[in-house]
Parts: sequence; C-alpha cells; structure tokens
Amino acid sequence: MRSLRPLRILNLVILGAGLALPLVMLGKSASQDPPTQLPGRNTLLLGTAWYPEQWPESRWETDLRMMEAARINVVRVAEFAWSTMEPSEGHFEFAWLDHAIRLAGKHHIAVVLGTPTAAPPAWLTQKYPDTLRMEPDGRRVTHGNRAQGSVTSAKYLEFCRRIAQEMARRYGHDPNVVGWQIDNEYGYAQMSYDDDARRQFQDWLKAKYKTLSALNEHWTTAYWSQTYDNWDEIPIPIGGHNPGLMLDWKRFVTFAWARYQENQIDVMKPLCDPRQFFTGNFMGYGFNGFDHYVLSRPLTFVSWDDYVGTGHLDPDANGISHDAMRGLKRENIWIIETQPGFVNWSPLNNSLDKGEVRAMAWHDIGHGADEVGYWQWRSAFNGQEELHGTLVGPDGEPVPLYEEVAQIGKEFSQVQGAFRGTRVVSEIALLNDYESRWAIDWQKHTAKYDQFGILKSYYRALRKFSQSIDIVNPDVSLDQYKLVVAPDLYLIPKVRAEHLLAYVKTGGHLVLGPRSGMKDEFNALLPMRQPGYLAEALGARVDQFYALEKSVPATGSLGEGEVSVWAELLRPNAPDSEVLLRYGKSNGWLGGQPAIVTRPFGRGSITYIGAVLNEKLINAAAQWMARESGIAPVFDPVPDGIEVSRRAGPNSSVFVLINFSPETQTVTLPHTMRSLLDSRDVTQLHLTQYGVAILSDAKQP
Ligand code: GLA
Repeated sequence: MRSLRPLRILNLVILGAGLALPLVMLGKSASQDPPTQLPGRNTLLLGTAWYPEQWPESRWETDLRMMEAARINVVRVAEFAWSTMEPSEGHFEFAWLDHAIRLAGKHHIAVVLGTPTAAPPAWLTQKYPDTLRMEPDGRRVTHGNRAQGSVTSAKYLEFCRRIAQEMARRYGHDPNVVGWQIDNEYGYAQMSYDDDARRQFQDWLKAKYKTLSALNEHWTTAYWSQTYDNWDEIPIPIGGHNPGLMLDWKRFVTFAWARYQENQIDVMKPLCDPRQFFTGNFMGYGFNGFDHYVLSRPLTFVSWDDYVGTGHLDPDANGISHDAMRGLKRENIWIIETQPGFVNWSPLNNSLDKGEVRAMAWHDIGHGADEVGYWQWRSAFNGQEELHGTLVGPDGEPVPLYEEVAQIGKEFSQVQGAFRGTRVVSEIALLNDYESRWAIDWQKHTAKYDQFGILKSYYRALRKFSQSIDIVNPDVSLDQYKLVVAPDLYLIPKVRAEHLLAYVKTGGHLVLGPRSGMKDEFNALLPMRQPGYLAEALGARVDQFYALEKSVPATGSLGEGEVSVWAELLRPNAPDSEVLLRYGKSNGWLGGQPAIVTRPFGRGSITYIGAVLNEKLINAAAQWMARESGIAPVFDPVPDGIEVSRRAGPNSSVFVLINFSPETQTVTLPHTMRSLLDSRDVTQLHLTQYGVAILSDAKQP
C-alpha cells in the first residue's frame, strides 16, 4: 500500500528488478458503451499477467486451459518482452506472439498487450549508452534491472516509438486484442540527470517564462543570490532547492513522462481499431512522482496495480487509491495487477488470509473496477521476482489460492449482468492536488505532518455517511457534488479560488482543511493571510499557524476533543461567520481562539478547519458536514468493519457489502434488496469475516 510503495520501488531498483467478438460482428460502435465495459464481453473481467515468452510453446495451452477453468477471461501480455519481440536492432519476431494471442482466443481469453518499454534489451542500452538514465551523482545505471531507460533521451524515445508502432501495425486490428497498456509504471518517474536532460529543462522553462526576469521574480531569486542571468545557469534540483524551481522541475518531470507516453500512443492510434483501448499501469494514490491528471489525459481509462504488501487490506487506505485513480478520468478503472496472496518486495511478505483475496476483489469492484488481474500467473524459474505470489506453482500445478480466484471468476460471471452500465456516483468529493502535495512535503514544518493520514481521517469519517466518495482534481467541474472537502489545499491561485467560489455560490458546500490557500502557482507565499483569495468569502482569516509540540484540547458546538500536529489561529471578521470549535489552553497564543469557522456564502457555504482533529472531532465534523450539505445515504451507518459501496446504473443500483472485521456482523438493510450471490430477497444480513454480499436495489437508480 501507499506507505510501502517507496520501499518496494527501492527494492526493485536495487535488486534489478467472454469471447472475442469483433465489433463489426456485434453491429455497434465502441462509443455506445462505457469504455471500460468491453462490448460483447463480460462486464466484470478476471485477469492475470501471463508471460508466454518465458515458457516453451508446448506449455501454453495447458496454462490457458487452467485459466479458462478459473474463468479468467483476460491476460496482459508482452510488457517485458522487448528482447523477444526485437531480438536485435530492427529485426522483429512476432510469430510467437501471434500464436499466443490465437491460443488465448481459442480459450475465450482476451489479450491486453503491453508495450515493453519499461525494460529495454541489452543490445540497445549497450550500443546506445545514452539511452540509460544518469543518476544525480553522474553514474549511468547499468543494464539488468528495469526502468533503466532515460525518458529524455531522443534515441530512447525513437526506439520506444518503433517497437510500439511495430506492435500496433501487427495487432491493431487483431480481434482478440482488446487494448493496450503503455509501458509499465512509467519508470517510477525516475529522471536522467545528464546534460541533455538539464538543457531540455532549461528550454522548457524558457518556453514557460519567456524572460529570465519573470522567472527570477516568481522564484524570488534575489533570496540567497540565486538570480539567473542565463538560462543555462539553472540547475536540476536534487533536493533542498528553491521551492519555485522544485515545483517547475516536477512539472517538467510530468511533461517528460507525458511526452514519453504520447510518443507511443500517437504512432499507435492510427494503426489501431477504435475499439482498442489505451491504458497505463499507475500505482495508486501514494505514488506521486508525476501529476497523474496530466498523464491520464490521452488514456481511454485508468488502470492501476493494487498491492497490500505487509499486513492486510485497509479498506479506507485502499479505497482512497481506488477513488483517486477513478477520479483521474472520472471513469471506471481496471486493477490490471493485484497480489495473488502475497508479494516479494515488502519487509514481511505475509499472505492475505483465506477469503481476503476474494473480499479484496469485491472491494475493487465496489470502488469502480471493471477488471481485477492477478500478477502473475506463474513465476519465471529465474529472475528478480521468483518468490512473489502466483496462481500456479513452479511445477505448473495450481497453488491453494487458485480455487479462491476461481470462485471470484464464478461470482463475476454470475452477477455481471447487474453491473453492466454501472459506475460510482458520489455526492461528496475530496480534492487531490499533486502540486500542493509536493509543496507541503518539501516544507512540512513538522515532520509529523502526514498528508495521507489527514486525508484518510476525513475519508474514513465521511465514508460513514456515504457509500462512495470521489477524489478529484480541484479544477474540474464540481457541480455534481453536495459537499467538497479539501483537507489541505496549499496552492490556491486566484483562478482556482474563483472556480471554488463559483461552486459555493451555486449552492455547494466547501470545507477547507489546515494549510489551505497559503501559496500561488509558483509555490510562492500569497501576499495575504490564508486562505488567500478565499478569506473574504469565509469572513475570516488565519492570523498565524503553529506546529504543535503536543495535542491541545478543543471545544465548541462540535463537542469536545483534541487537536494535534498543526493548529491555525482563525480570526473571524464578518458578522455571519460562525465559530464551531475553539482551542483550549496551550501555547498562550491559541487558548480560547477559533479553530473552525463557517459562513454561508451565495447559495452554499464555506468552512475552514484550521487544525488536525482527533477521531472524535473529525467524526463530529463529518456528521455536521453531511447534515449541512444534505447528504442522504441509502444505508444508515453500518457496524464498524463493514464496507458498503454503491455502483449506480440507469435503472438500479448494486451494493457491495464486505465484512473486514474479525467478528460476524449483522447489517439491517433500509429495505428489501435482492442478494445476487445466493438469489434471495433480504432485509438483514449476517456477514462473517471477509463475507461478501452483492445486493441489487431496484429502488435506487
Ligand atoms: C509491479 C509490476 C509488476 C511486478 C509487480 C510485483 O506492479 O508492474 O511487473 O513487478 O509489481 O508486485
């Protein structure tokens, strides 16, 4: 999960790391269906990552037969097979892949092809060493791992484009190829620190600022004698640099990876049927190496790889990742990889419990996934990931988890009709801004400031009052939401403030958390107190912020509790601003002062929460927010440990209920619903640990 991802990446870097009916036959166009629900195929897909290039062809059919028996109906293939597809420069061999795709079709298994650019072949990197990334210390990475290509190398881009083009030419009209995954995990956003990359960054800055005086002004380079007189004086930041430079570098990183992705999509698209989708393999909320909103733009839909690592599924943490990935394009997602029991890259690679993999698959579906794919089918006999969980052992026979996955396949096909055309529709949005996240992390002010922890506290509390939450970019249309919460939206330039105010004026309820509205788009302090351009509408401002040494009592109409880590002293200045919470005795500055202020504005309201609230207070705040904004969930709050998720279709809704607590729980339904896994009408459920119920609700369109 999020906190483990960096470790996992580090490990990888160190260790080296339904039937295919063409659309014509169906007589309809791809655009008539939501893109993630593949025309003519199951609505809920079960998948696995299959590496035929690692096995003799004589074995393939056995594997595919075993997949088909488990109702696996999609395989992702070839994303690391560059050296097999192009064994020497310009010499392509696809006969093996033709055969694999054909055999998969014979077993009613659709194919997603990955472009293999996350692992260039040795002939390429050795003949053209500039295609390898250079580390900040000037060392080129060596061959033998993956993600070693330089995203800024023109030569590397040329080779990537060519293999992608050759694949598209060959398979762009293949009836059993349903879509494409570009690259794999986008090199974890790693950059090359060579002179060429630096020059490209300087050119990018020049195109953006036009004049050095504009750049010097926005970055306040008079500070510490940073003034630049020539573009080529500007360094690549490697930490501890000017915040304006750091933010622009991250934007350049985003630009470089987006260009890398489009470099492939642009040559492929004209060669492919429009029914074939383009997706990428992202890594959830926690990975913030680049701005995912930018990279997801040219994709048909977003996929991500969902791993728990050590421990067990935390439905809130994992739900945040699902909802954030779904929010990138506001469209259903694919879980193109997930763990078959356990991984090999975390400090303790424990297995998920019996039944937990199934519960996790349904949790994925509840949060908007249309496909769940297990990585991987079978471990290669050698290679860096031999001990990772699989569905088949080294002897080619199923491992114990295979049966559980087969059960998932059976259930997916049993209930898929109810999910057709459904998506997650939410009344609440949480705002996610990569630029604010980077900027806070560079100047945390207290090591204890944990943005994810704060987001999770809001998410967890609000999820009790809703069966779904969207996590979206602040700049998208927010009109559909009754309540929009920004836990810590640091960068609020004027345009963004106007956009948020327009939402409030038309009846939206906006809640800002601590540190909001402190900076502009250049990562410079705004020349006003927080929340900057929103202070007037709030009828209050932040007089001062304080990093707390210890927790502080707080009390008000929300009840009594404690705040910790961060506290802002609010100063109301409008007659209709209402104080909901005040600080108790603490550092002498905060005692008796407002911690939360709310004010009606236009047809809606704007609220500022200036501190990190403890569980009691955040729950009270969530209840208040839900009431104020008129959130009306179908289910009353359910017992702790039960997750309820809803997908809405044109005529009915489907609810996914899962018990993640060790005790058996009883859930009383708001009215009779149809339980689809056991075909009966129910008004009450008893769910044991990891128990799942899929309920169709005709009353709730
Ligand atoms: C990632 C990669 C896969 C594999 C798995 C292992 O998600 O995309 O190739 O390494 O991790 O967990």
